[in-house]
Amino acid sequence: MINVLFVCLGNICRSPLAEAIFQYKVNEQGLQDKIFCDSAGTADYHVGDLPDSRTVEVAQKHLIPISHKGCQFFREDAETFAYLLAMDRSNYRNMVVEMGKKSSGLYLMRHFDPKDLDSDVPDPYYGSKNGFEEVYQILDRSLDGFMAFLKKEHAFQS
Ligand code: 4NP
Repeated sequence: MINVLFVCLGNICRSPLAEAIFQYKVNEQGLQDKIFCDSAGTADYHVGDLPDSRTVEVAQKHLIPISHKGCQFFREDAETFAYLLAMDRSNYRNMVVEMGKKSSGLYLMRHFDPKDLDSDVPDPYYGSKNGFEEVYQILDRSLDGFMAFLKKEHAFQS
């Protein structure tokens, strides 16, 4: 099993959406027995909380099932998850601090965005509803890129 963890700050907006979209893609490709994914936040503000209502709304609009309860990222996760995908540079730095060193599986999510390889997934929490649709589009593209990368790395057929 390849374990993948998506990480943002609060684990109620970006990373649970990334997890839900990626799970949908994993199911679509019949790779459920090869890839497991989950999400976490570097902060503890929303531990136990359901995703933000605007996250749920945008997922439902795109027919993506979403269910997650907020949890916090801890250094031990680097042992469980082969791939750790940080939504932005601040999350990335927080993760390196928590882990005590850079894990070999740590990437920025948009490293896999074919349209813009060098940006952050913007934090939509304090913005408008449009920001959630923008995040959805960024994640959808980036996760296609990440799936192609994983399939190549692990020689998965689908
Ligand atoms: P996320 O968004 O990191 O994408 O889940 C945020 C959620 C909550 C907060 C900040 C960002 N907050 O400050 O509570």
